[in-house]
Amino acid sequence: AQVMKGQFQHYMQKEIFEQPESVVNTMRGRINFATHTVTLGGLRAYLATIRRARRIVFVACGTSYHSALATRALFEELTEIPVSVELASDFLDRTCPVFRDDVCVFISQSGETADTILALRACIDRGALCLGVTNTASSSISRMTHCGVHINAGPEIGVASTKAYTSQYIALVLMALQLGDDRVSTAARRAEIMDGLRDLPQQIADVLATDTDLRTLAKDVLFGHASLLIMGRGYQNATTLEAALKIKEVSYMHSEGILAGELKHGPIALIDENMPVILIMTKDALYPKVQSAYEQIAARKGCPIILANEGDKNAEKMPGHKIWVPHTVDCLQGLLNVLPMQLLSYHLAVLAGVDVDCPRNLAKSVTVE
Ligand code: G6P
Repeated sequence: AQVMKGQFQHYMQKEIFEQPESVVNTMRGRINFATHTVTLGGLRAYLATIRRARRIVFVACGTSYHSALATRALFEELTEIPVSVELASDFLDRTCPVFRDDVCVFISQSGETADTILALRACIDRGALCLGVTNTASSSISRMTHCGVHINAGPEIGVASTKAYTSQYIALVLMALQLGDDRVSTAARRAEIMDGLRDLPQQIADVLATDTDLRTLAKDVLFGHASLLIMGRGYQNATTLEAALKIKEVSYMHSEGILAGELKHGPIALIDENMPVILIMTKDALYPKVQSAYEQIAARKGCPIILANEGDKNAEKMPGHKIWVPHTVDCLQGLLNVLPMQLLSYHLAVLAGVDVDCPRNLAKSVTVE
């Protein structure tokens, strides 16, 4: 069936605004909020094998790769299995060693990305258990993998991936929760995360309601600059990379996601009073370290736009522009933080006159190596 844009100007915009519903579709029937249990039907028969894995290897490209980065720490926390995250092309270039007791997870919105399929083939040949996380049930990756999870985000038409990212992220969180549910020691943590997921759709809607402020920020502050640096650390490393990718893809503005911990190892040289910076400073265990990144930037006359939690009194007092988002559990905060970045990239693209749903040189699904 043809997907209509309805009241929206572009598919990308429609898909951004669909996220309060698309994330519900990813969770539907899979979480019991009363008993705090998660069941992904596709994985049930393989749970014991996955829990015995010597390591978990995520393989993906582009935005799908960022969803793996975003959830890596939670997988390691809840499963205590080492996790590596691989770009499919680099994984192939290195002819990476893969073993029978590895579990390889292939994440792909389309399920048709050539590099990811080639990596999957290599892992099947080595005898690893291969899981697919896709948005397309009949896709090559869904068919070739031993088992998997459908993200149920609905068709994504805009070339720049938005709702697929948040749904991949949630599907991977659910996977980590289910794999971890043989451990009594993490029961409270898992319950906290499920409660966070329950409240997420409303919080997503609340962030999307700040769209007008974000358009003003794009127009009055960011548009026309040659470059935009986006910094954060820990769980937000993935958000900085995904935000920078969105901005490059649709607005053609140069943007770089920078791990704040690496600031002093090079990127700090770029900071002066003119360089636009967005610093992700939402509350988690690394807040004091991000604060120190802020001070390093301020000492070089930089004045970052701060993305912080509503009600953060310290952030309220800081100079410069702010982007406010509600607070959630640390490992889910990236689901909210990425939303203003999607909207900013969309508005920068519209301001630049780009064909938002079909930016130059890009394809929705890259089916050649
Ligand atoms: C292309 C698209 C990106 C996407 C990437 C991976 O580059 O333009 O938006 O993230 O492919 O696609 P996949 O379908 O494998 O998730």
